[in-house]
Amino acid sequence: MFPLRRNRRLRTNEAIRSMVRETIISPNDFIVPLFIVEGKNVKEEIGSMPGYFRYSLDNIEKEVKELWKLGLKSVLLFVKVADDLKDNAGKEAINPEGLMQRAVKTVKNAVPDMIVMTDVALDPYSQYGHDGIIDDGKVLNDDTSAVLAEMSLSHAKAGADFVAPSDMMDGRIFEIRSLLEDEGFHDTGIMSYSAKYASAFYGPFRDALDSAPVDAKNIPKNKKTYQMDPSNRDEAIRETLMDIDEGADIVMVKPGLCYLDIVRDIKNTVNVPVSVYQVSGEYAMIKAASEKGWLDHDAVILEQLTAIKRAGADMIASYFAKDAVKLIS
Ligand code: PBG
Repeated sequence: MFPLRRNRRLRTNEAIRSMVRETIISPNDFIVPLFIVEGKNVKEEIGSMPGYFRYSLDNIEKEVKELWKLGLKSVLLFVKVADDLKDNAGKEAINPEGLMQRAVKTVKNAVPDMIVMTDVALDPYSQYGHDGIIDDGKVLNDDTSAVLAEMSLSHAKAGADFVAPSDMMDGRIFEIRSLLEDEGFHDTGIMSYSAKYASAFYGPFRDALDSAPVDAKNIPKNKKTYQMDPSNRDEAIRETLMDIDEGADIVMVKPGLCYLDIVRDIKNTVNVPVSVYQVSGEYAMIKAASEKGWLDHDAVILEQLTAIKRAGADMIASYFAKDAVKLIS
């Protein structure tokens, strides 16, 4: 009771504030998403993600060495696939010589201890820009899961430490885990995008990979039949518990900032590590507002990342990872 208790005593100066600080972000917290393209010496800026780039394999080598020096220990790989390799079956996704498979080897060669995670979903490979095989206007669940399992296996064979299915088909974690076990990849982990919402914040990412759903007859205009309804909270728990039962080592909530209530619900419910994806639209908003001089870029990113961790994230996939570790070092 006041004045016996004056809360401001513990805020008097930075020394005491740092001693009572409850949430501290460190390089150990981050997963760095990387966009990879074919070519030589490519480093092209993504229009809707200022300061973020697509790299060719030779440049990715330099980039991951730099990340490792900064103390960052994990990367999450995404590839931009040439149009003529896209189809409705995910054929290129399981090509042992595909860009993703080569990228895994490149990163592992450059920095053997770097944890390499791979995106597992068909959208970059789909002529329709969907995360699954389409038949008669529908995204097929089980047929898609079977391809995702093959895709995961090919990533494991290339040397991936974790596969990260981002598609939201039902039962795909079980399919993937079963095939990895059958083939002897007992130590290849699964980070499941378990509570992934049908969010409007993925726009810049779809620019980066040219992977947005195409506007064509009998092709779903959005991903609402597989990604979750932003209105739902109980469903996030159901999805996450199922993925853990099916063999997920790490679960995920995505996007970040608008879904921190979900992050806390999940953190309080499960006993596996929880990751959070601070997505491309969250990145773009901060970039745009700070370019206009309306927000303090560095302060805002540290505040948002701290909030994500405070909500319950054990790890954060973030396009700001590099900025953040430079700021906190
Ligand atoms: C696709 C995928 C998406 C993201 C990661 N994997 C986009 C989508 O579901 O349409 C979004 C990441 C971001 O916006 O930063 N499987």
